[in-house]
Amino acid sequence: MVLLVALGIAALAPVTQEPPTFTRDVASILFEHCVSCHREGGIGPFSLETYAGARERAGLMAAKTRARTMPPWLPDPGTEPFVGERRLPDEAIETLRWWADGGAPEGDPVALPAVPRFLSGWQLGEPDLVVTMSEPYVVPESGRDVFRSFVVPVPTEHDRFVEAMEFRPGNHEVVHHAVVLVDAVRSARHLDALDPGPGWAGMQAGLAESPDGHFLGWTPGKTSLEVPEGMTWRLPRGSDLVLQLHLLPRPDAAPVQVQVGFHFGEAPTRTSTRLRLGAKAMDIRAGEARYRIRDAYRLPVDVELVGLYPHAHYLGKEMRAWAEFEDGRRHPLLHIPDWDFNWQAEYRFARPVSLPAGAALAMEFSYDNSAANPRNPHDPPRRVLYGPESSDEMGDLWVQLVPKREADLAALKLDFARKETAARLTGYRFKLDRNPEDEKALFSLAGMLAALGEREVAIRHLEEAVRVRPDFALALSDLGRLHFLNGDVERAVGFFDRAIAASPAPPQAHHNLGTVRLAQRNPEDAEAHFRRALAEWPEFAEAHYGLGEALEARGESNDALRHYRRAASVKPDFALAHFRLGNLLAKEGGEEASISHYEAAIAAAPGFVPARFNRAAVLARQGKTDEAALALEQLLELEPDHREARELLSQIDLRTPRRR
Ligand code: HEC
Repeated sequence: MVLLVALGIAALAPVTQEPPTFTRDVASILFEHCVSCHREGGIGPFSLETYAGARERAGLMAAKTRARTMPPWLPDPGTEPFVGERRLPDEAIETLRWWADGGAPEGDPVALPAVPRFLSGWQLGEPDLVVTMSEPYVVPESGRDVFRSFVVPVPTEHDRFVEAMEFRPGNHEVVHHAVVLVDAVRSARHLDALDPGPGWAGMQAGLAESPDGHFLGWTPGKTSLEVPEGMTWRLPRGSDLVLQLHLLPRPDAAPVQVQVGFHFGEAPTRTSTRLRLGAKAMDIRAGEARYRIRDAYRLPVDVELVGLYPHAHYLGKEMRAWAEFEDGRRHPLLHIPDWDFNWQAEYRFARPVSLPAGAALAMEFSYDNSAANPRNPHDPPRRVLYGPESSDEMGDLWVQLVPKREADLAALKLDFARKETAARLTGYRFKLDRNPEDEKALFSLAGMLAALGEREVAIRHLEEAVRVRPDFALALSDLGRLHFLNGDVERAVGFFDRAIAASPAPPQAHHNLGTVRLAQRNPEDAEAHFRRALAEWPEFAEAHYGLGEALEARGESNDALRHYRRAASVKPDFALAHFRLGNLLAKEGGEEASISHYEAAIAAAPGFVPARFNRAAVLARQGKTDEAALALEQLLELEPDHREARELLSQIDLRTPRRR
């Protein structure tokens, strides 16, 4: 004990005497905190690996570190600690200042610590799978920062669980940061096809998502993205990655060709999810210096917070997030005093933060749309609305969390979905108030209203969208779908044909027309449409299911089985696909397998009575009368008037009277 204390004092003592030197005091600070970016071939505008490089900028370094603009790290201390904090200790800032004031002396070369080597190989050992951008991308020589997205297919034979992901930018000089999303249905490929050159401009991502609530972000100096203990994420078979890159223009830059390495592990023992707080309706008038948004969400179950991902564009200024307990106590989670879009990142708590059911998550962001905001993209300032482009604004706080009890996950997701639905409805209505001819908002609002059962209003919105843009294929396809649900097959087919005539034809339209043709007992035509939908989206679970039905109708059971299986493997909770699999297998003598598919169907949809009945019937056929009877009793609790179930139950009771 005594010895340790004495050493501690000894280690601090000498600095207080003579002015610091580069080799003894400064180099170790720069090597630890700066050279991951400020090195030959790094994204920093100069190298700080050598004395010469550092001496030239001694004053600037002192100023930037004092102002805490370097190293770039947005959160203030005083909340929960985060993994990989890039905050400089006060002593280091003081050392840099004193060194600059003292004329930036070099000192004894012998004292120089080793310059860190940035390993060119994989940091976590050879990955299980490596994928690479199919084409290199060359950044422009000059101009504004580039935001560009790329699809990278992941050739996997079955679903995998990812324990760690390594990101290698291919050119450290120009990749400022990256966000990685997973596109299980390959929905983003058409964005690539629409844009000449590798990838596409902007951050559109189709249906790609952050997997199981994990944020997969990369910034220089961070090599691997490892999941917290037991929280691997599912990489569905045949997924694409969508890489959203923030790139810096440089003359003569080497091409960017990102590589991603995966390390696979076991299925997760805990599944995380993510919630979004924030606003979808924003209207910031020109000159407004303190526009604010606030939001809160009361947790329905006990949770542990894993991390936060705040998001705003260039007008974002100050961000706060906190937890609020039922007794009114507040616990700060994040404070960013001066938001900078260019240095956005996700923040993972060093230790998960436990919150009980009843506590609320809350956030407040402020925005500066005045000319005094040096990052304002408009000069002079202009009215700015909510929107995805970086000249629009956004205000999201994504929260990654796990329920304390795995069994609470579904309840949490359902509860949150209600809040999210309300927020999205408000957002679309807000947009339409400002521009009634915003066809995308009309389309999206219609989709939500249709899902909420308001089919007629949805149809009116879609008709309006199609009036504004007559070749809006997705809106045409949805109009067809809603008319079909209304029983108006002829009109439905008319809209599907129009959707298919538009270019590119959306796979949904082929899928929907296939469904109509099935209902019209035309499996040949149906098959052709499902196949065209699948040619576009190979992992389109509903189209596999439809193709299975078409093939089954044509007596091709083996092929049908294959497509039902594909549907159920792409979407493990696809109850109908499991049901059909169960039926086909039962017919061909695969009784055990059929029962397990019926059980999967029931697990996904507990009220799915036909699956319950067929399971009971197969059990009875196998002579498992007790199990069959129990299954039938459970079914009758759900649907007391189910005649066949009553009959089967009484037959079982006649044959083998049971004791109750
Ligand atoms: C994560 C990457 C990264 C780290 C770590 C980093 N920098 Fe920087 N630095 C940059 C980039 C990029 C720029 C260019 C300006 C910008 O984008 O903010 C920059 C700019 C600077 C500038 C010039 C600012 C100006 O206005 O001309 C100084 C000085 C500087 N950094 C010093 C440091 C010091 C000292 C450290 C370590 C204590 C450090 N940086 C750590 C990326 C980094």
